[in-house]
Amino acid sequence: MKIAMIGSGYVGLVSGVCFADFGHHVVCVDKDPARIEALLRGEIPIFEPGLDELVASNVQQHRLSFTTDLQEAVADADAVFIAVGTPSRRGDGFADLSYIYAAARDIAKAIKGYTVVVTKSTVPVGAGDEVERIMRETRPDAEFAVASNPEFLREGAAIDDFKRPDRIVIGTTDPRAREVMSEVYRPLNLNQPPLFFVDRRTAELIKYAANSFLATKVTFINEMADLCEKVGANVQDVARGMGMDNRIGSKFLHAGPGYGGSCFPKDTLALVKTAQDYDAPLRIVEAVVAVNDQRKRGMAKRIISACGGNVRGKTIALLGLAFKLNTDDMRDAPSIAIVTALEDAGAKVRAHDPKAMEQARPIMPNVKFCQDPYECADGADALVIVTEWDAFRALDLPRIAKILASPTMIDLRNIYRPADVRKHGFAYTSIGRA
Ligand SMILES: NC(=O)c1ccc[n+]([C@@H]2O[C@H](COP(=O)([O-])OP(=O)(O)OC[C@H]3O[C@@H](n4cnc5c(N)ncnc54)[C@H](O)[C@@H]3O)[C@@H](O)[C@H]2O)c1
Repeated sequence: MKIAMIGSGYVGLVSGVCFADFGHHVVCVDKDPARIEALLRGEIPIFEPGLDELVASNVQQHRLSFTTDLQEAVADADAVFIAVGTPSRRGDGFADLSYIYAAARDIAKAIKGYTVVVTKSTVPVGAGDEVERIMRETRPDAEFAVASNPEFLREGAAIDDFKRPDRIVIGTTDPRAREVMSEVYRPLNLNQPPLFFVDRRTAELIKYAANSFLATKVTFINEMADLCEKVGANVQDVARGMGMDNRIGSKFLHAGPGYGGSCFPKDTLALVKTAQDYDAPLRIVEAVVAVNDQRKRGMAKRIISACGGNVRGKTIALLGLAFKLNTDDMRDAPSIAIVTALEDAGAKVRAHDPKAMEQARPIMPNVKFCQDPYECADGADALVIVTEWDAFRALDLPRIAKILASPTMIDLRNIYRPADVRKHGFAYTSIGRA
């Protein structure tokens, strides 16, 4: 099949290269010339484990190419995937669909022959109808179907998620589109991926429902952690005990600093707004959004209290800035709210992250970035673990205790056992473990 991927960010690039690896011919398009030039030089503009090798091998085998020329990429394609951003719209929190609609207009102008246009971006219910309307208005003569195929990959494990998905949701009632989409995913047949065909609106809603449910699970255990602290219980054991129940499951039950990233915050908010518009308010998701917002900044309070209630003039060292491990994505990372609140309270902040410092620099202009955890800790008044990178799981604790001005550790990811840290003389605070 010939596939055009519009938008070569996390989702577009990973989906594009995986489709190419299935044996399809894929052209990845982006309107950002610097991004495409980098890709043409063989440089990968994002950090995602395994992506560089997979891109290189598919480019070498002439199945994957990159361009800024949407028209040429789309003209011969059997399927055109839209994977552009759908960020929160400033001011009202609705999903900003302007990139989607602009792409739809450009695609309509360029298609030749029957083409399936597929929204892979996360879009609110009804966006597919609008894409179809825009395309019809732009090119009344064109032959096409608009399908929805929301993406469920996780950054940090994106290639494996894409190649071994739990399910592939496809929203279309057009028989020809169904055939094309089955062909696109046919190479996955060996892995028996459940292709789940539904109508387009249902597909659009499945994505938001799934993300909001996962965000609810995270927020639930975060609030449970607060209660554990008050009553002297251990949230990790509570989560384990809950997760052993198959109806609940153990995933997404890790208490921490609140969810962040490029999806949960904007998707929960957009779903809340959609539901309000349709007079069917989702009060649970509304609560999740509010609780999570407060939690991120609340983490700074925890750090301040671990430092004796005042951080003015003190130096706080943060380990980890990305919203989770194995990504350089800084979008809505809890570290942003934490840094702002600490700086508001008069602290000097230093930080180290294995991959995200480049992305963090422009967002955190007053933070001093350090090359490794030890440079970061040297002379600081407290060390805070913000992201659960593997590299932070086996720190040389006696060395850290010695180089900190006072051996204080705040572990917002519970990656250490309290006794293991305290035996080196640390004052140790974690989440939901009295
Ligand atoms: N990042 C994730 O983990 C993830 C997972 C599932 C779904 N999603 C959804 O996928 C969509 C894309 O997310 P992302 O993280 O890949 O975004 P991104 O910001 O990393 O990438 C989007 C890219 O699209 C390009 N673009 C915008 N308009 C364009 C146009 N008209 N023509 C060509 N290129 C254009 C931008 O330059 C950018 O490079 C969003 O709707 C997101 O919610 C993301």
